[in-house]
Amino acid sequence: MALLDFDGDYGRTYNARIRRLIPAYDAIFELAAATAAALQPQARRALVVGAGSGTELPALLQAMPLARFTLIEPSQQMRGLCNALVAEIGATERVEWGPDRLENGIEGRFEVVISHNVLHVLPPVEQEKLLQRMAAQLAPGGCLLLSSYCESNPPGFELGLAIGRARFEALGMDSATIEAVMASRNTKVFSMDTQRLQRELTHAGLEAPIALLQALFQRLWLSRRPAQECEGGADA
Ligand SMILES: C[S@@+](CC[C@H](N)C(=O)[O-])C[C@H]1O[C@@H](n2cnc3c(N)ncnc32)[C@H](O)[C@@H]1O
Repeated sequence: MALLDFDGDYGRTYNARIRRLIPAYDAIFELAAATAAALQPQARRALVVGAGSGTELPALLQAMPLARFTLIEPSQQMRGLCNALVAEIGATERVEWGPDRLENGIEGRFEVVISHNVLHVLPPVEQEKLLQRMAAQLAPGGCLLLSSYCESNPPGFELGLAIGRARFEALGMDSATIEAVMASRNTKVFSMDTQRLQRELTHAGLEAPIALLQALFQRLWLSRRPAQECEGGADA
């Protein structure tokens, strides 16, 4: 099975496999939703970039009960899985599809922008473009919640890989899949470097990202756009 083929078998079996691949997958969603509830409980517009099968949505819908959600997702198969989930939880009225990709243009700004596990499926140049586009959609006072694979800082590369491999084995992943996952690094899965992340976001007028969670190489960050934007800032 081709890793990250979201319109093929990988996408079809995504929900059944993803918790083995990403440590603390559900904890990241839980904490991101709690952050949105704490900072933007009255939000009217939320943007979810790379919604995939939509697993992050139930907690976010609950965290921001007044918000309408716009979803970005290029894969038709993943959109189908997401639509089924949204219908199942009775949230169809609160959710709409935006363009397949953010570069195709979307009107207005959002109090909360969320993107889970998307940056690491893009090479560095595309990561930076996506960060700039997400930052541009964020309203003054709004918050950006991002999760990604990230090799920066401890535990360090070799130790992290050894723990990651042992974790896959303990969870019963077969050796061919373990090797395929290990080989995907820098070909299909790309670390989101923390210095580049900080540079792109601060350049776009946002506050430096705060790491809310680290699970091995997986991170969740919060970054906010100040309520009063500085004159001369990217969006002033
Ligand atoms: C690893 S999945 C994450 C799905 C979901 N957010 C989650 O955490 O389970 C990555 C998703 O990003 C989508 N994607 C890929 N490139 C994208 C882009 N440039 N903009 C938005 N989404 C993208 C893929 O189609 C896929 O559904």
